[in-house]
Amino acid sequence: MSTDPFTTAPVTRRTALAGACTVCAVAVTGCATGQASQDDGRPVRVPRAGIDIGGAAVFPEHRIVVTQPSDGVYRVFSAVCTHQGCAVTDLDDDVVKCPCHGSKFRLADGSVVKGPARRPLPERTVTVEGNILTIT
Ligand code: FES
Repeated sequence: MSTDPFTTAPVTRRTALAGACTVCAVAVTGCATGQASQDDGRPVRVPRAGIDIGGAAVFPEHRIVVTQPSDGVYRVFSAVCTHQGCAVTDLDDDVVKCPCHGSKFRLADGSVVKGPARRPLPERTVTVEGNILTIT
């Protein structure tokens, strides 16, 4: 089993609420492995399925957090914490949390809710084609 937090399955707000142990396992893995590597800048494609309206999902393998604030509108943020580079994986209501030092970022816009991080999560560009989101 890999200990890289970016090689685990997507974590949605639904799975976070339904399976606290799963979220804890991801969070602990993030703590154990420390920093995440940076994005390589290549476009990635993810399915729209599983990202509810008003919901969010973390795609650890792509180092992104995808939100759908309203029907058909998607926003994508880097899942690399701007404090020291850990994977932000812990979805909780309207924030995603970093397991390393507790920073929290608002899912609506990636802004910092709680430090020590001081910079927002960088936003990525997303286009919708059918049931696929392409993130650049
Ligand atoms: S690396 Fe995320 S809070 Fe420190």
